[in-house]
Amino acid sequence: MTELLRQAYDPDTFRREGHRLVELLADYLTHIRQPDSPEKVLHHVTPDELYERWQADLATGPHPQVSDFFEKILHDTIHMHHPKYLGHQTSNVAPMAALAELLGGLLDPGMGVYEQGTSGVALERLLVKELALTMGWGENSEGFLTSGGTLGNLTALLCARQVMIERDVWEHGFEGRQYGFLVSSEAHYSVARAVNVMGMGSRGVVQVPVNQHFQMETDQLESCFRKAENDGVKIIGVVASSCSTATGSFDPIDEIADFCEAKNLWLHVDGAHGGCAVFSKKYRHLLRGIERADSMILDFHKMLMTPKLVTAVAFRRGEHSYQTFNQKASYLWDKDEGREWFNLAKRTFELTKSFMSVRVYALWRTYGPELFAENVERLFDLGKTFARLIAEEGDFEMPVSEPECNILCFRYLMKNWSEEKIELVNAAVREALVREGEFFIVQTKVQGRLYLRTTLMNPLTTERELTGLLKKVRELALGFVD
Ligand SMILES: Cc1ncc(COP(=O)(O)O)c(C=O)c1O
Repeated sequence: MTELLRQAYDPDTFRREGHRLVELLADYLTHIRQPDSPEKVLHHVTPDELYERWQADLATGPHPQVSDFFEKILHDTIHMHHPKYLGHQTSNVAPMAALAELLGGLLDPGMGVYEQGTSGVALERLLVKELALTMGWGENSEGFLTSGGTLGNLTALLCARQVMIERDVWEHGFEGRQYGFLVSSEAHYSVARAVNVMGMGSRGVVQVPVNQHFQMETDQLESCFRKAENDGVKIIGVVASSCSTATGSFDPIDEIADFCEAKNLWLHVDGAHGGCAVFSKKYRHLLRGIERADSMILDFHKMLMTPKLVTAVAFRRGEHSYQTFNQKASYLWDKDEGREWFNLAKRTFELTKSFMSVRVYALWRTYGPELFAENVERLFDLGKTFARLIAEEGDFEMPVSEPECNILCFRYLMKNWSEEKIELVNAAVREALVREGEFFIVQTKVQGRLYLRTTLMNPLTTERELTGLLKKVRELALGFVD
């Protein structure tokens, strides 16, 4: 073996650098949570500047010490554990899950087939079964984990396509027929993308309007269904958003399930963000009816504190999960036709995928599902608190003033401002916030209008940071007007 290879696999170096890294990260977690910590959420740099900085770094390598690289990465990466991080809806990772990821990352078995995945494969099934039981599904339910909600939605809808269309689409294609799904106009774009990827075209997504709370208007399902069928689109299923991405609105699953049962349609629940409410006694009413769905997805890497990416894809009737793909790969498993729950790649889009179950299981085993419940309740409650604080100010507007979860949109405005001015000022506020780096929030369009958008992902965020954000937004907005 060469000296370089020996160094790359040296256990003592790993031990030394590993201890240093854990110290670095523990210090980061300690400092970032202090009230009025001078630490920024983000050290803003333009993409080109950052690229050039790393280009220069590479040109001076190789560097024998990895720890200064880790420190630089810590500096140049957004600090999602900061209580003033209020932006994109991906998880605030619990340290125990990160440690489990280190374990999974070093052992790193592929999860496609049992002979390599072993424990990871067993944990996947166990986790999805537990989730299914929590949703009120029976022992017959089945599922697996996959890399992200986008892929999860595609996988579940591929299954719906295979089960609901009487001919074998996998083998013969659509043979000139047009099929479609009824989907709320507020659904995440990954649903439309999945339908397009499946070759159903843009007519494959039939939009159902939403009410003033941005929830699917279930009274309109019948007319949308009829219109689609008159236009030659055979509807095979409905997708419920739990919740929508922009405003955090939950479609009424129970009412959608009534419709699906009456028409014999597949019901898929996109619970990427809000499916986590199932763990909470206080908020599981938002998912009332989920026990009637045919499939659902849930991102553990959103509200459930796990590093990206871990998405559960679950099927109420486990046998459906075996129908999605129909390919033979005899070098991987002995019996092509057999329903072997443990050879996951028979049912997942991916073959090799990371040891994702270990991240979720470490949390579940250490703290119990109560941890998930408490995080959901803390963050959904915080959403309500923030809405109250905004309403008390008087010079802000919200598209949804009674949020159902931890996603909240708002904007600053004065009475005489035009729509154009409101948008210009709020877009400038958001840009200034990101450049300054004290707070991090995002922006979105709600029914064509620009809003600032917060997702409260950090249980360490308190009223203090939320009040501070409103003060800062006002200051910046008024600064742009002068
Ligand atoms: C409702 C919903 N579905 C699906 C997705 C896609 O999930 P992912 O980013 O894990 O691919 C998102 C992402 O924000 C979402 O909000």
